Amino acid sequence: MNREAIRKLRKLLGPDSVREAPEDLVLASYDGTDLSGVPAVVVRPETTEEVSRTLKFACEHAIPVTPRGAASGLTGGSVPSPGGISLDFERMNRIISISREDAVAVAQPGILVGDLQRELAGRGLFYPPDPSSASFSTLGGNVAECAGGLRALKYGVTRDYVLAIEAVLADGTVIHTGSAAHKSVAGYDLTRLLVGSEGTLAVFTEITVRLLPLPQEVVLVVAYFDSTEAGAGAAVALLREGFFPRAVEFMDELTMSSVLSSSDAQAPRGTRSCVLVETDGPEGCAVREAREMAAFLERGSALETRLASDPREREVLWDIRRQISPAIHNISEVKLSEDVCVPRSKIVELLRRLREIAQRHGVRIASYGHIGDGNLHVNILDEKSPDPREKLAGVVSDIFGATLELGGTISGEHGIGLTKRDYLDREAGPAELALMKKIKGVFDPTGILNPGKIFKK
Ligand code: LAC
Ligand code: ZN
Repeated sequence: MNREAIRKLRKLLGPDSVREAPEDLVLASYDGTDLSGVPAVVVRPETTEEVSRTLKFACEHAIPVTPRGAASGLTGGSVPSPGGISLDFERMNRIISISREDAVAVAQPGILVGDLQRELAGRGLFYPPDPSSASFSTLGGNVAECAGGLRALKYGVTRDYVLAIEAVLADGTVIHTGSAAHKSVAGYDLTRLLVGSEGTLAVFTEITVRLLPLPQEVVLVVAYFDSTEAGAGAAVALLREGFFPRAVEFMDELTMSSVLSSSDAQAPRGTRSCVLVETDGPEGCAVREAREMAAFLERGSALETRLASDPREREVLWDIRRQISPAIHNISEVKLSEDVCVPRSKIVELLRRLREIAQRHGVRIASYGHIGDGNLHVNILDEKSPDPREKLAGVVSDIFGATLELGGTISGEHGIGLTKRDYLDREAGPAELALMKKIKGVFDPTGILNPGKIFKK
């Protein structure tokens, strides 16, 4: 983007909306990965109209545009194209409406998911998607990546709650998909196509989500085990038994030791893995189910179980879970994080294969996450090196190979972005990939929307 184009854009949007100070550009250059790309400008729209004007201008001048929420993504989705526009939604962060009767909320994409949830909870309403990043990630980012999270087991993921989207196409056209009605089968489901499109098809300006009543009672069961296999096996057995908690989270041996060494968390002697099970429901029901689940786990291989129903006590325990990613960083200079997902019956086998892969490559692997969904965060740990992604490519490739052999997917919730684009063709066949690329071409014929993401160059 040259000076003349920046001048014109500034004139089009006003000086306040266009930033190009070096510190603004550096702040806009990264996301939650180790990747970065410095944009030429940061555009900070306040209205749909401004987004539309920006995209029309970018389309006419063939300038790449990368939408940006809070930049907490883990695959490079919001890392700007160097020299392009970083379209930052920080100022479009309002709740537009909440309807109790319709069980619907409408919000702008820049709102933090945790803020929206807090506001709703105050009115007895519930937006269930619960990525660990909820307190610092935005609704727009969650929709762009189809964020999953801890409660997906019972409640599903972001796509299951998005009813309608106001979005701007690459040429500036404003579209409205879906409606506030909870059901709609009128034509192709454009809303679902946009959810998880990683900023490559359109830019969201308003999002309508479906709500549920806030559960009356929530109880957490923490169960400790003496090995990775015992913990994982117990989690799978619990669900096979027919229990239906809202979250079943797991920590393997290495994860557990990093959590114990970097937090106030306490565990019984001999603990090597841990399972967190949370259940909710009407008053009295959740606590009964929690007790039954604890008894089931203790009849199995649990060393010990603890119940927490006090919200503050639960929050402390969940905070420890949410801090796993930084805790693992503390024990290793390099941490590459994957989010593979397999059918639940294959999770114990996946963990066995991960152990083999780690031994074969001489690296450490820490796995934790949403075991109830078959979704593990597999972290490859290594010492510092000039290009860790290049060095560890063989490990990543073997992890994806094992996952695909077990009938799984290379990304359960973080998206493809930049970090996994070289691997997508191992999962999607040539016909499916060609279809995806054609869809991209229909939405964005000039290729300005988040170029380089999802697909290999
Ligand atoms: C989590 C993120 C990494 O579950 O998805 O902690
Ligand atoms: Zn996760």
